[in-house]
Amino acid sequence: MVMANTVDKNQDYLELDVKHVNPVLHRVGRIVVDRARGSYVYDMNGDAYLDFTTGIAVNNVGHCHPKVVAAVQKQVAELMHTSVTTHHKPYIDVCQKLAELAPGRLDSVFLANSGAEAVEGAIKMARYVTGRPAIINFRGSFHGRTLMATALTTSKLYYREKYEPFPSSIYTVPYPYEYRSYHRGNPDKVLDETMEQIELLFTQFVSPQQVASILVEPVLGEGGYVVPPSNFLKRLREVADQHGIMLIVDEVQTGFGRTGKMFATEYTGVEPDIMLMAKGIAGGMPLSAFATRKEISQKWLPGRHGSTFGGNPVSCAAALATINVLQEEKLPERAAKLGAEIVQRLKKFAQNRPYIGEVRGQGLMIGIEFNDEHGKPNKDMAEKVAERCFENKLLILTCGSHGQVIRLIPPLNMSEEETEKGLSILEKCMAF
Ligand SMILES: Cc1ncc(COP(=O)(O)O)c(C=O)c1O
Repeated sequence: MVMANTVDKNQDYLELDVKHVNPVLHRVGRIVVDRARGSYVYDMNGDAYLDFTTGIAVNNVGHCHPKVVAAVQKQVAELMHTSVTTHHKPYIDVCQKLAELAPGRLDSVFLANSGAEAVEGAIKMARYVTGRPAIINFRGSFHGRTLMATALTTSKLYYREKYEPFPSSIYTVPYPYEYRSYHRGNPDKVLDETMEQIELLFTQFVSPQQVASILVEPVLGEGGYVVPPSNFLKRLREVADQHGIMLIVDEVQTGFGRTGKMFATEYTGVEPDIMLMAKGIAGGMPLSAFATRKEISQKWLPGRHGSTFGGNPVSCAAALATINVLQEEKLPERAAKLGAEIVQRLKKFAQNRPYIGEVRGQGLMIGIEFNDEHGKPNKDMAEKVAERCFENKLLILTCGSHGQVIRLIPPLNMSEEETEKGLSILEKCMAF
């Protein structure tokens, strides 16, 4: 907060931003971030903001973790880039590590730069290998900003509007979102309805023999931090197996300890055919990946896909260090414990506050859904809470198709004191 008569050093940059930065970017907050460490970001005035956004689920090990910084500094002096036509050690090491971490038999890994690129690559591989065109996706999903990823995204109209025509052969069914379903209170029925809609697709729209893949988020991210019924992936696995369809699980937001396991899929015991990873993978450096079984990837012939920067050595070194930190500091376990405590506390806070419709989450992926007096999604209230938090130097984001959900995505290693501080601010800002 700037006192009267002091100069706000953010201001000059904000003016330059307006002048030169493409305004399409949706900015929240009015600060220019100068540096960050642990659970805090610091603006140009040196003011500290407690960060419950982690760069949208990226800085899972906190900002600028010293071990990640050291690995990056070492690598950058040794090898910064080489083309994908040559081998390099960090690339191979990361693939080996991810093969070790990924569920079941997923042992063959491709590296790219962003979540959307992982989506694109996985869809191309599934089409190439199955020889089938169609994709089944879910209402409320978010898969990224490239054109195919946008076509697969249905979390908000504004991600799609005016970008048509989209690639075809995409068939969308409801995500089992219990709170906004007519079957609230009966998760089995909510899930049955989703599965019936998939069967109906096969009767009315597309032969299952034409479907290459089912693409799904294990916990809905941008669409509202929705935890589906526990046997959702299992039911999808059964349909996929029945028809030779590849099950692609998008762990871009849920991965790397966020939900209390290294990957949310682990809660389900399901082995996807392809698993997508990005965001938290490299502690803040750009990297993404998708893992599959060798028997699938070896049918994708050399040269059919590639990337100039994908698997950059510096990003790979950061990924190896980040994964080590997650394992050494037992951060998935910490996320599970801390997340359960936070949800319990916030549920208690929500009692007798009818405008808080639901508090839900898995690990440290926590959503708070706001209602108006008719029980409808309340975007204004969620935005008001986010704005109040910002004024109190706590950064939080909204999500949900209507923008009616506050999402908490703090660092997995935030301290007890930081947790208490953040929750106290949040509760103060949620009191209406
Ligand atoms: C589930 C999911 N998939 C894909 C993406 C796209 O990732 P990126 O922004 O790195 O392209 C996101 C980003 O928020 C995501 O949450």
